[in-house]
Amino acid sequence: MRMYDIIMKKRNGAELTAEEIRFFVEGYTKGEIPDYQASALMMAIYFRKMTRRETAALTMAMAHSGDMLDLSAVRGIKVDKHSTGGVGDKTSLALAPMAAACGIPVAKMSGRGLGHTGGTIDKLESFPGFTTALTREQFIENVNRIGIAIMGQTAELAPADKKLYALRDVTATVDNMSLIASSIMSKKLAAGADAIVLDVKTGSGAFMKKETDARALAEEMVQIGRDAGRRTSAVISDMDQPLGYAVGNALEVKEAIAALRGEGPADFMELCDTLGSQMLLAGGRAQSREEARGMLKEAVRTGSALKKLAEFVEAQGGNPAAVYDTELLPKARLVQSVPAPKSGYVNRIACDEVGICSLILGGGRETKESGIDLSVGLVLGKKVGDWVEKGEPLAMIHANDPGRADAARKRFLLACEISETEPVKRPLIRDILS
Ligand code: URA
Repeated sequence: MRMYDIIMKKRNGAELTAEEIRFFVEGYTKGEIPDYQASALMMAIYFRKMTRRETAALTMAMAHSGDMLDLSAVRGIKVDKHSTGGVGDKTSLALAPMAAACGIPVAKMSGRGLGHTGGTIDKLESFPGFTTALTREQFIENVNRIGIAIMGQTAELAPADKKLYALRDVTATVDNMSLIASSIMSKKLAAGADAIVLDVKTGSGAFMKKETDARALAEEMVQIGRDAGRRTSAVISDMDQPLGYAVGNALEVKEAIAALRGEGPADFMELCDTLGSQMLLAGGRAQSREEARGMLKEAVRTGSALKKLAEFVEAQGGNPAAVYDTELLPKARLVQSVPAPKSGYVNRIACDEVGICSLILGGGRETKESGIDLSVGLVLGKKVGDWVEKGEPLAMIHANDPGRADAARKRFLLACEISETEPVKRPLIRDILS
């Protein structure tokens, strides 16, 4: 078999066999197939798409590209949650400790920023000293001891996705349904959880802009999960504006901590409660959504979820004091307002553009090797539907470089639309496939 023939076959729009897909995944993981051929195949898949059969074969080949984690040593039904990616999506930071505080063992594998979206691991690294490079023994020990552990992809777990994820991030090949479905589900299957709750985003800040595409992605992933014997459900949620107010790694950690103190933005809390309910139902901790919501609210009200976050941060090498004193998180030197150019209702905030503003400030990677500035980002002053007076801050920009701050401010202004008429609100939760 030759990689050249596989690229040409897909470029010409034919269906690849499971053997051809495995040949590519194994060869690329071992370093025998170079990045340039893998990039060409990703681009061919992007334009020609994959059938359901190809997507399932790609998922299984990627899941088996390393070890399949055996979590049978962890007590209880292990639940993992994964988002298809968004802007200001800090859900796991609050939801994982909330669910763990309700008795759900959270054994989670997370990723880094991708395209215009952020990643949980980058955000967590805002805690000084925090690491996701756990051995499997530490991972299992932490879930058993404190109820929560988050690891990054290692050379052992779904290494094919680790390599492809980084490659797609810098070759404009992220937003393809089969590539997203196989990337997410290969990690989830390899990470060994019994139940999987998916948060499938739709809108201008999501990879699937149209709701019909998001639904198709959700259905495909739920099917892959169920075929592999995992209890899988999906929530389709709005990502047409950033979730909450903060966008940027340390800024989002701060907002997630505020949420665990009971001071979270309404949309963010609603999403945490909806996804959390699915986790509690899947894990057998609650019998109804109402009961689950009540338990999650109680975990926040009593402070047990916040305490769980501190325990988790400490168990993974981070400074738990930063959970109680957010001044210890990375902070940008410059904080500048983006004043509204006129009065009116905020009609639209192009969400992917806000993610790009954060990248411009240094909050994301430009090449596979580049580092990121954890302190930078934006905090919205207004959300869609809010009234703004001329000169009031539409957002505050947190930057370390005046040139980048200026470029982000200009781009952010272009992303916002202000009108005289109040816009119709889009519902946050579109559907639940359970
Ligand atoms: N999240 C992932 O893990 N992979 C993707 O391809 C997109 C979002």
